[in-house]
Amino acid sequence: MRIIQTRSVVREYTDQPITDADVQALLTATAAAPTASNRQAWAFIAVREPQLLLSVRAFAPGVIGTPALLLIACLDHSRYADNEARRREGQLCVAMAVQNFLLAAHTLGLGACPASSFLPDPIRLLLDMPDHLQPVLLAAAGHPAHTPHPSPRRDLDEVIRHDRYT
Ligand SMILES: Cc1cc2nc3c(=O)[nH]c(=O)nc-3n(C[C@H](O)[C@H](O)[C@H](O)COP(=O)(O)O)c2cc1C
Repeated sequence: MRIIQTRSVVREYTDQPITDADVQALLTATAAAPTASNRQAWAFIAVREPQLLLSVRAFAPGVIGTPALLLIACLDHSRYADNEARRREGQLCVAMAVQNFLLAAHTLGLGACPASSFLPDPIRLLLDMPDHLQPVLLAAAGHPAHTPHPSPRRDLDEVIRHDRYT
C-alpha cells in the first residue's frame, strides 16, 4: 500500500544511469503483468543509448525531461487474429504492464512517467521495429531530480460505491 500510495509521476531526472540490475528488475516486473487468456501479445523495447533515446524523444512530446531509460510498450498484432475487440483487449494488457513498470520503478527509488503523446511511425522506423508491433504507450524512467509528491485524487466517497450505485 505504501508503494502504491506514494507513487507519482516524475518528469525531471538526474544524469545518473539506471543499473543493469535495476533495468532487469523493471523489465521483469513489466512482463509479469496479467494478460487476457495469458496471450502476452506484447513486446517491450528498452531504449538506453543516449543518442537514440534523444532521437525517439524528438517524436514524443509527452516525454518530458531526459530519462535514462525509455520503454516502448507495444501490442504484437502477429499474436492476434484481425479482430478489433481483441486488439482493444491487447491494449489494456499493455497498459497493465506499464503500471507494473511504474510501480517497480518507485519501489527501486526511481522515478517514472507514462506518455501517450508520441508519433508511432517515426519511432517504429528509428527502432527498426517490424510492422506487426504497435507502440501503445511509452514509459520514461530515471533517478528523480526531486522528491516526488503524490498528485491529488478525487475523494473515494465520490468515485466508489458499494454493492449498488445509488
Ligand atoms: C494513459 C496515460 C497517458 C499519459 N500520457 C502522458 C504524457 O504523454 N506526458 C506526460 O507528461 N504525462 C502523461 N501521463 C501522466 C499523467 O499526467 C499523470 O499520471 C497524472 O497527472 C496523475 O499523476 P500521478 O501519476 O502523479 O498520480 C499519462 C498517464 C496515463 C495514465
